[in-house]
Amino acid sequence: MSKLTLDRILQSQGFGSRKYCRELIEDGEVRIGGVVHDNYKAALETDGLVLEIFDELWPYREHVYICLNKPANVECSRKPSHHPPVLSLLPEQCSWRDVQPVGRLDHDTTGMLLLSDDGAFIHAQSSPKRHVPKVYQATTAEPVTPELVAALLAGVQLHDEPAPLAAVHCAQTGSHTLEIILEQGKYHQVKRMLAAAGNHCAALHRSQIGQLPLASLGLAEGEWCYLTPEQLALLV
Ligand code: URA
Repeated sequence: MSKLTLDRILQSQGFGSRKYCRELIEDGEVRIGGVVHDNYKAALETDGLVLEIFDELWPYREHVYICLNKPANVECSRKPSHHPPVLSLLPEQCSWRDVQPVGRLDHDTTGMLLLSDDGAFIHAQSSPKRHVPKVYQATTAEPVTPELVAALLAGVQLHDEPAPLAAVHCAQTGSHTLEIILEQGKYHQVKRMLAAAGNHCAALHRSQIGQLPLASLGLAEGEWCYLTPEQLALLV
């Protein structure tokens, strides 16, 4: 149980600066249970609180945990150079709350991307010690061969890595497609492993993180959702 003043609550939810949040409240734009709350100093219990702002319902969230079905041609970096940032696909409240991608997908990689404003979650989820499996569907330029699959499973040497990196699972799914599961998250890892094994990655899609498949979330490309505690528990 924790109480916060209404202006702090709005600010914590990403509605802008404290000054702007106070203006919204004093202008009567904030309701709770249909009743206008125009005193920004009022201290309210945040547990279970549902705000109505500009007639939209906003359940209070201490942190947000988001899954985006990332389309191609958006960038995960904070200062994108050639494409719009992934944050442009989320409500502007997410930028105000400092939501960040958990790790990165390349601009041309599609699929499952987690984002959050919970630093401890981002750190834990990206920690190499956790070995969170990530499932990728890769399309290759050259045909997939048993030798390619065997090489990816045995481990391939990337030029700036001290030891060979291996997939924890790799299986051919078509003449030019394979499913590959990695537990590390090195820079361009799938593409570099395919190149080191003598092929070339033509397209890449992340279909699952931990035990949570993207398909179970029913998101079209470019769509996102908040993850429930039950879904978060599957990210291991
Ligand atoms: N490996 C890559 O090469 N690119 C990605 O975006 C993710 C994993």
